[in-house]
Amino acid sequence: MKVWSSDDKEYLDFVGGIAVNCLGHCHPKVVIAIQKQAQRLIHVSNLYHIEPQIKLAKLLIEHSFADKAFFCNSGAEANEAAIKLTRKYAKNHLGYDRYEIITALGSFHGRTLATLSATGQEKFQEGFEPLVPGFKHVPFNDISALKKAITKHTCAVMLEPIQGEAGVKMPSEGYLKEVRQVCDEHGLLLIFDEVQTGIGRTGKLFAYEHFGIEPDIMTLAKGLGGGVAIGAMFAKEHVAQSFQPGSHASTFGGNPLACAAAIATIETLLEDGIIMDNCKRMGKYFMKQLERLKKEFPSIIAGVKGLGLMIGMELTKPCTSIVNSCFEQGILINCTAGNVLRFTPPLIVTEKDIDRLIDVFEDIFGEIA
Ligand SMILES: Cc1ncc(COP(=O)(O)O)c(C=O)c1O
Repeated sequence: MKVWSSDDKEYLDFVGGIAVNCLGHCHPKVVIAIQKQAQRLIHVSNLYHIEPQIKLAKLLIEHSFADKAFFCNSGAEANEAAIKLTRKYAKNHLGYDRYEIITALGSFHGRTLATLSATGQEKFQEGFEPLVPGFKHVPFNDISALKKAITKHTCAVMLEPIQGEAGVKMPSEGYLKEVRQVCDEHGLLLIFDEVQTGIGRTGKLFAYEHFGIEPDIMTLAKGLGGGVAIGAMFAKEHVAQSFQPGSHASTFGGNPLACAAAIATIETLLEDGIIMDNCKRMGKYFMKQLERLKKEFPSIIAGVKGLGLMIGMELTKPCTSIVNSCFEQGILINCTAGNVLRFTPPLIVTEKDIDRLIDVFEDIFGEIA
């Protein structure tokens, strides 16, 4: 949970590399896995079968809805792959003019041109126009807006089950189930961007498991490698078939080193269920403490939301100065959407760590109030 600056100041890390360091910093199992793999083989290219890549694919498929995996190096690349697979699938199965993907306002899907175009936030797009055509944005949690946006060109809906960069925006009760239903009725694919919500972050390995539905395609990155860069796209067999050898590729995607780190991360997360259980318990404890703080400082805190250890606290004012005050007091937190403090700590966070943060908040908010 801790990092130290070059002048030896200690920081308690509630950012966790923005939902990357799910096992904390330098977890011994991940470190050893990387060391061993580095001594054995670092890179060979996807011209050959890569043993750790196959093992990782099997591990994740065993624990998910998916039948096939594609590995890359980041969340944007994983989403780029999902967009390409969707277009190819639509051409093969739905018709040549079915290319449009509906995404949500407030979403964040990455910074390559296609994923930026999929992203429903103009502030990230400004200056990079013309954007890639074929994306339509509708308000999150508005099922009738989604239905109205479907045209004869639509082929898929792409959503984050919980919107991260929008300020930890939760789906309303039944929304994701209705989205699945609408997709089924219209023959559309459902893509879940679980780059931020995946790998245990919400208390289940994947966030979709909370909502009683399955997507057709899912993307992962962030926590997958426990700190090492790796991204992945997962799909059901009938969808995955639209990628044939040569359709899509990545030089470094699924390299032995990154896959060894990811295997160690997933195995450690799932081992005995201790860490996942900690995530659920600490998530509840954290929310309870923040709710208590909200009652104490109603003029400063507008709301608390989240699931597991993906938590947002909405303030009534911009939150940059709070992030800076915490930094001065040796605590790392993050501000998103202007006025939402976002907490994505390692899933090993303890009550003591949370209490320390709450004490610091008491001081800062007390002073402001
Ligand atoms: C939901 C979501 N999708 C995609 C991305 C992009 O991931 P990356 O920065 O690894 O390209 C992010 C990054 O914050 C994200 O939160």
